[in-house]
Amino acid sequence: MRDLVSETHVVPSDLIWPLFVKEGLTEPRPIESMPGVFQHGPESLLAEIDAAVAAGLRAVMLFGVPKKKDETGSEARNPEGVLSRAVSSAKQRAQGRLLVVADLCLDEFTSHGHCGVLDSSGLVDNDATLELYVEMAVVLAEAGADVLGLSGMMDNQVLSVRDALDKAGHQDVAILAYSAKYASNFYGPFRDAVNSELKGDRKSYQQDFRNRKEATKEALIDIEQGADIVMVKPALAYLDIISDVAAISEAPVAGYVVSGEYAMVELAAQRGLINREQTISEVLHSVKRAGAQIICSYWAKEYAERYQIENH
Ligand code: PBG
Repeated sequence: MRDLVSETHVVPSDLIWPLFVKEGLTEPRPIESMPGVFQHGPESLLAEIDAAVAAGLRAVMLFGVPKKKDETGSEARNPEGVLSRAVSSAKQRAQGRLLVVADLCLDEFTSHGHCGVLDSSGLVDNDATLELYVEMAVVLAEAGADVLGLSGMMDNQVLSVRDALDKAGHQDVAILAYSAKYASNFYGPFRDAVNSELKGDRKSYQQDFRNRKEATKEALIDIEQGADIVMVKPALAYLDIISDVAAISEAPVAGYVVSGEYAMVELAAQRGLINREQTISEVLHSVKRAGAQIICSYWAKEYAERYQIENH
């Protein structure tokens, strides 16, 4: 009876699986703050692409961690850089069976760890950053990215990137806009995952967790500027925001269950305080129930594998 009347179903094709690729690795390296998540080298990345396809996933999202970080994050614009190479090898391996989403942001590439370049007073310079995003977008599109995940929270990033992609002949590359991205403490473990050097915070460009209305405003602006999917991030602590955005958005809505939300469940499960598998399922269903039809989650592969077994 409960199955018959259940309203919400999370299926593998709802999920996007984030993967980290680190330059110079020959073997996967565990990320200490995120039990069960690894930084990958070129070979283990391909194994994960195969696993994603086999599990019935439809999308992976790649983050690159370069060896060399500098003030402007120049490795982000290097066609031979860690992220572009990962994108093209993932694309080749997937043979059209998976969408390859590439993160488009500078924080993994800058020595100061901010999502953009800094002005003389040390604040992120929005418009100077847009110029670099545009270059990075074209490099990633040439590498074969199907979708670009614009996670930097710069004003007008969707407009600038859409325009640059179109001009470069990449009309078919889609934009996943992190429209409502909050300056969140839940990103803590991710900083470890990308070996971020960030000091300070991102409050000059990410949203204030005390605010709600701002989120729908940001989503509407992004849709107007050409976003194909709008995302709310984090997801679990922001279900009200997902629900608001879903109510007004004509574009599909995504939610990102971030590193800190992942780690809370994993660590509580390690301590025996919760049932791990059931909690994962509950988290994913709650994000979908709130209105996100797409969910980015580090549990995507595991959930999809379990789903396949349970539904056969
Ligand atoms: C920025 C970016 C961040 C995350 C994804 N993209 C970090 C930040 O904004 O500080 C966090 C993801 C997570 O915590 O799982 N490129």
